Amino acid sequence: MPNAYISGTGFHVPEDIVTNQDLVTRYGIDTTDEWIVKRTGIEARRFAPEGVGTADLAVPAVQMALERAGISNADIGMIIFATLSPDHCFPGSGVYLQHKLGLTDEGVGNFAGCLDVRNQCSGFLYGLATATSMVQSGSVDNIVLVGAEVHSAALDLSTRGRNVASLFGDGAGAVIVSATEEDRGIRSWHLGADGRHADALSQKVFDISKRPFIPLNEEGVGQVAPDYMFAHMAGRLVFKHAVERMIGALMKEFQKQSLTVDDVDLFFFHQANLRINQYVAKNLGLPDEKLFHNIERYGNTTAATIPIMLAEAQGQGRLERGMKIVTVAFGSGFTWGAAIIDW
Ligand SMILES: CC(C)(COP(=O)(O)OP(=O)(O)OC[C@H]1O[C@@H](n2cnc3c(N)ncnc32)[C@H](O)[C@@H]1OP(=O)(O)O)[C@@H](O)C(=O)NCCC(=O)NCCS
Repeated sequence: MPNAYISGTGFHVPEDIVTNQDLVTRYGIDTTDEWIVKRTGIEARRFAPEGVGTADLAVPAVQMALERAGISNADIGMIIFATLSPDHCFPGSGVYLQHKLGLTDEGVGNFAGCLDVRNQCSGFLYGLATATSMVQSGSVDNIVLVGAEVHSAALDLSTRGRNVASLFGDGAGAVIVSATEEDRGIRSWHLGADGRHADALSQKVFDISKRPFIPLNEEGVGQVAPDYMFAHMAGRLVFKHAVERMIGALMKEFQKQSLTVDDVDLFFFHQANLRINQYVAKNLGLPDEKLFHNIERYGNTTAATIPIMLAEAQGQGRLERGMKIVTVAFGSGFTWGAAIIDW
């Protein structure tokens, strides 16, 4: 059985930097930099311009990851695309990315399979577990795993939506999961979910149990009320469960691998809220220098946070062969996951 390892990382964020103060001046939201920084650690986020979709953001991230892995698009055997903000209701963003990457071009034409993962902030780790198992099965050698989000289009950028709108940003991260005979790679993973809280962080733009699935006006045009159009979040409940589940997932992984915090070189926690991560870190006794973070610059980019961090860490020379890294995430569903990687 081959091992599955991360052979390349890449990321891409839009140019437009939206600071907390910009939420006030540009969008007229009644908030302050102090309020947001104190509760979340977020100072700014990036917003994609109109006309740029989720698969568009993913393309440069994948290209960077392919380059770092030293392979070309012809070597891609599978695409796994994790997002909660897909380009369209269907088909998934994976096939759009496949076409944009040129995998359907004459001469390349490998028509790699495309799978979309819908596990929100845990999407990257659900994708990583899937990619690892696929590579270990021997059926595919190189998988492009993407986490990408265009949140800005679906945020209620008004005072009414400030509790959610101030948290999220746009961005894309990608890794290549490849087969190797070397003694390295993704050692173990843990995934979990608690569907009792499915509604606690949700965006119910449509309801397929209703006829019609979107309310129609007199002219037969679909109309979605703001309560349904934009995400709803029970912030404090999310906070409490995030802390508990992240600690629980990490403890399970440590136990499985007979590890302690001291054995780990770097931790990559999903970037939802710096305070959640500080709380978890304190609880586990992690020193600050072992905790990578970038939420202050990008906000919560949901499925993209972990692959963006991996790509930035690699770019900064902080990820070296032989290091042991641990990653963990929690989000809507509720869903969570963790993985241990020998880099
Ligand atoms: C979102 C979060 C920062 C809100 O902090 P909180 O202390 O729980 O705040 P609440 O939602 O209870 O709101 C408290 C008050 O602040 C207000 N408020 C919310 N967002 C605000 C903002 N951006 N600026 C100013 N005031 C804001 C609320 O309207 C509310 O006002 P009210 O008391 O007059 O009704 C916090 O709950 C949190 O971080 N939760 C986890 C969120 C998360 O990680 N989500 C992603 C998971 S993947």
